[in-house]
Amino acid sequence: MEDLKKLITDAKKDFAACKSLTELDNAKSKYLGKAGPITEAMKGLSKLSKGEKPKIGALINEVKQGIELALNHCKESIQKAILTKQLSDESIDVSLPGIKGNSGSLHPITLTMRRIERIFHSVGFDLARGPEIEDDYHNFTALNIPESHPARAMHDTFYINKNYVLRTHTSPVQVRYMKENKPPLRIISPGRVYRVDSDATHSPMFHQVEGLWIDENINFANLKGVVQDFLQQFFEDSSLSIRFRPSFFPFTEPSAEIDMSWNGGWLEIGGCGMVHPNVLKHTNINKNDFQGFAFGLGVERLAMLKFGLDDLRPFFTHDLRFLKQFKV
Ligand code: DAH
Repeated sequence: MEDLKKLITDAKKDFAACKSLTELDNAKSKYLGKAGPITEAMKGLSKLSKGEKPKIGALINEVKQGIELALNHCKESIQKAILTKQLSDESIDVSLPGIKGNSGSLHPITLTMRRIERIFHSVGFDLARGPEIEDDYHNFTALNIPESHPARAMHDTFYINKNYVLRTHTSPVQVRYMKENKPPLRIISPGRVYRVDSDATHSPMFHQVEGLWIDENINFANLKGVVQDFLQQFFEDSSLSIRFRPSFFPFTEPSAEIDMSWNGGWLEIGGCGMVHPNVLKHTNINKNDFQGFAFGLGVERLAMLKFGLDDLRPFFTHDLRFLKQFKV
C-alpha cells in the first residue's frame, strides 16, 4: 500500500520535469502503460484474499486517478507554455515605425512655370503653345531673321533637316498665335527650347517663357510695367526694380535686355522690345492699327534665383535627393 501511494509523488515529480508533450507521453506510459505498476497491481488483485481485494482495488483506483490528475495538470501547463511562446513569436509590434513609400513631387522647373503662368494669368494673359520641332520659317524667317542673316549664327541650332529645327526660342509661338488670332492679343508661351550649348549655366534643352501683347495703344511703358510687376510678384519683393539695357533682336525695334536688381547689382533675365513691323507683316497684322511688345525670359534663370542655386545642371540629372527638396 505504501508503494502504491508513493507512485503518486513519483509520478508528479516525473511529470513536472517534462518539457514537451512527447516527454510527458513517455512518462505517462511509465506509470499507466501496459507494463506499468498500475497494470501490474491490477493483475495482482486476483492473488489477494476476498477481504483485501476491495480495499486494495479502491486504493489502486485512487492512485490511478491521482496520477491521471497530475498528468492532466502537467499537460495543461505544457500546452499553455507552447501557446504563450507561439503568441509571442508571432506577435506584431504595431508601434514600430512603418516603411515609408516614396511619393512623387513636381519638378522645380514645372513649379516655376506654373508660378509664372499663374501670375500672368492674374493680369489677363492667355496661355499659348507651339511645337518643339519647328520649321525654319517660324523659328527664323517670320521673325525677321531671313536666310543667311548673321543673326542666325547667334542661335546654335539643332537642325533636324534643311527645313526643320528644334526651336531655339519660344518666339515662333508669337508668329503662330498672331496668324491664328485677331488682335487684341495677350499671351504668354512657356516651353522647352534647344541650343547646342552645355556648361554650368547652359543646358542643350532649357525653358523660356515668351510674352506678347498686341493692341491699339501698347507702348514701351506698358512693357516695363508688365515685366516689373511680374518680377515683383514672382520674387515677392515690391522693392525689386528693373533696368532696360538697349540691345538688338531682329524681331523687335527698339529692343532691350531686361536686368533686374539683385544683391546690390544687376542681373540679366531676358530680352524684350516692340514687335518689329516686319513680324507684324508676316502675320497680316496692320502696323498702322496695332502694335505691341514681346519679351522672352529664361525659366531656369528665374528658378535658380528663386531657389538660391548657382548651377542649373541638377535640374536635368534626376537626382531625387535634389529634386525632393522642392516638394510643395
Ligand atoms: N527669343 C530671344 C532669345 O531666345 C528672347 C527674346 C528677346 C524674346 C526679345 C522676345 C524678345 O520676345 O522681344 O534669345
